[in-house]
Amino acid sequence: PRRVRTHHLLEMKRRGEKFTMLTAYDLYTAQVFDEAGIDVLLVGDSAANNVYGYRTSLPITVDELIPLARAVVQGASRALVMGDLPFGSYQGSPEQAWDTASRFMKEAGVAAIKLEGGAAMAPQIKRLVDGGIPVCAHIGFTPQYEHVLGGYRVQGRGEDASRILDDALAAQEAGAFAVLMEMVPADVAAKITAELRIPTIGIGAGNQTDAQVLVWQDAFGLNTGRLPRFVKQYADLHGVLLQGAAAYAAEVKAGTFPAPGHGF
Ligand code: KIV
Ligand code: NA
Repeated sequence: PRRVRTHHLLEMKRRGEKFTMLTAYDLYTAQVFDEAGIDVLLVGDSAANNVYGYRTSLPITVDELIPLARAVVQGASRALVMGDLPFGSYQGSPEQAWDTASRFMKEAGVAAIKLEGGAAMAPQIKRLVDGGIPVCAHIGFTPQYEHVLGGYRVQGRGEDASRILDDALAAQEAGAFAVLMEMVPADVAAKITAELRIPTIGIGAGNQTDAQVLVWQDAFGLNTGRLPRFVKQYADLHGVLLQGAAAYAAEVKAGTFPAPGHGF
């Protein structure tokens, strides 16, 4: 199948056709999601939590995320692979953003990057796009800004809606090819989706955005901790793996694995 590129996502928006995105952090998940027809794979800085076990996304470094992105690129034959810029690796200046994002392109081979921020990151977005790097802007609730946003909370309620719209328009104006909105009221996300030329991707932003994204360990039941209410669980991987591991352990202890056919 044909490689998904940013212009295909724009064309899908124009046709009113939704597209899909999941996180991925390794080879096999990338292969499975690609085979399922997921259009965009995000190597999220949520690998901080979901791969490395940090409590927030803040500690993950560029050096920790790039090898995961390289594995996802190797597993995806159709999906567009997007790398997520970690906290502290782009906010400093447009040149810092360029240095980090160009490493993701060169060392991992991603086709686009995502960063958090709209109006405040417009110079960074413009610098990257001018240099040949497609950018998705993440606005609304942005986990890297947790400490200034006052924790995990919905953004853009009431009068604050205009701030989210301003961020979306600033990102579009700076050259972003998409805007991702996290934890924004559904009506605000719908209005922004209608106003923007470029596609919107939602997570906890209702069903009127042009696309949806979920973190795969949340969506497929590997993460059994407390999940945000915007998550829907589509599989029980915890149960599947638990059963497999327990059956293996029981057979080894009973001496029934390996059987004669497994040996030489
Ligand atoms: O890092 C991530 O997984 C994300 C998604 C939640 C959008 O940024
Ligand atoms: Na992220």
